[in-house]
Amino acid sequence: MSLLSQTRSRWLCGVGLLLCLSGVGCEQAPVDALLPTGELALLPIEWNASSLGSAKVTTIAEHDDDIALFGDTGVALWSNGESQGKDGSVRAWRASAVVPALGFPGRWLIGIDEEGKVQRLKSAAAQTVALEDVSGRYKLAGKKVLDVASLGGALVAFALDGRLAVSDGMTLREYELPLRGLVGSQGQAAGIWDDQVVIFDAERASQRTLALPGVKWLGFDPQHSLWAATGDSLFQLQDGVFRLAHRVDGDDTLRGLSASSRGLWVLFGQTIGLIVDGQLRLAAIPQGATMSAQDGLRLVGSPSGDAWLLGESQVLRVGEERGGGQDFVLWRKNMKPVFERLCQSCHLPSGSAHLDLSTHSLWARYRNVLGARVLEGMPTPMPPVGTGTLTAEERALVSSWVARGQIP
Ligand code: HEC
Repeated sequence: MSLLSQTRSRWLCGVGLLLCLSGVGCEQAPVDALLPTGELALLPIEWNASSLGSAKVTTIAEHDDDIALFGDTGVALWSNGESQGKDGSVRAWRASAVVPALGFPGRWLIGIDEEGKVQRLKSAAAQTVALEDVSGRYKLAGKKVLDVASLGGALVAFALDGRLAVSDGMTLREYELPLRGLVGSQGQAAGIWDDQVVIFDAERASQRTLALPGVKWLGFDPQHSLWAATGDSLFQLQDGVFRLAHRVDGDDTLRGLSASSRGLWVLFGQTIGLIVDGQLRLAAIPQGATMSAQDGLRLVGSPSGDAWLLGESQVLRVGEERGGGQDFVLWRKNMKPVFERLCQSCHLPSGSAHLDLSTHSLWARYRNVLGARVLEGMPTPMPPVGTGTLTAEERALVSSWVARGQIP
């Protein structure tokens, strides 16, 4: 018996809800509390993509300082704001993800190519990027992979033709679940099958199925709550049912939903929204986006908290002032010069201090310690006495960058 048929009964509650939404038979209907809306202050993020050219980017994978853009001219890697080069051998992509590396600590950026192979991005020497087909290492050789999602921990889910395969890094288990639009969080995979949302618990190998006619996109928010969107409505899974959270008005449409570390991003006809703190905050799609008119515009949430808007020949990054993208922009503009002038003699990756501080993500990780060292000299000053001092202006810049860590 297929796993799906075991839980057909779950249909009922989902269908019941939908009847209620259309005003039929509402005795037991939960009263859906719609999300309050507010305004979102959105900035275009200058992330130095000048050498990207006019590639059409299909999917993006990001980890710490690395950004891999998979598109129709190949895959390009940016690290800490610098282009690391490109591999043009594969030019059609289905999906990408950041997954635990197999065989050593760290992360892989992987792309699923059009043929269904799992390609990992390698950047061995500086300015060289290469792909390695790792399908065999996942025991997926000869199988056509359609989609991928990291489920947290060691778990990675692959959507195959008609099946879901879950790898824990050692073994691959397959289940009869024909899902698409895969997303993952805390050991769970969620995907779409016909007009249903299937939530699969990889540790227990159990699943729930909920009907949601017209469902197109899924996303887990940072609190691991599942959301789903149709072409005109947004739902949140609460107490086992999808409750309506927002419905577009008039002839507006909903065009995408994608998770970020800050909240869930939602793309509408002319606006972009961020669900955060129980609110749907909305902003106009920024200029530079002749994109807004394009039907093909797609939304990809970023682990930095920002969002990417992918058009036919444009990649636009947007975020809040407090977001990770803007933090990087300010680091690059104001902190990198300080690093180069006063810190890099000791703090390069293999430097004498044995503490690499050469990237934005490391500065962000050490933000408070770094502030104490540089601004207060606590417990001992950085740079060490006799090896240079910051100008008043540099101190002010470090101070305001460090203070960004306290933005609530
Ligand atoms: C002359 C070499 C040298 C220079 C220049 C230098 N550092 Fe250091 N730094 C060290 C050494 C050695 C340590 C480890 C010993 C210690 O913690 O004092 C260290 C430790 C640190 C730590 C502590 C991390 C922790 O875990 O406590 C931070 C943060 C730091 N440096 C930041 C900076 C910054 C920012 C600059 C430039 C503005 C800088 N350093 C310049 C040598 C240097």
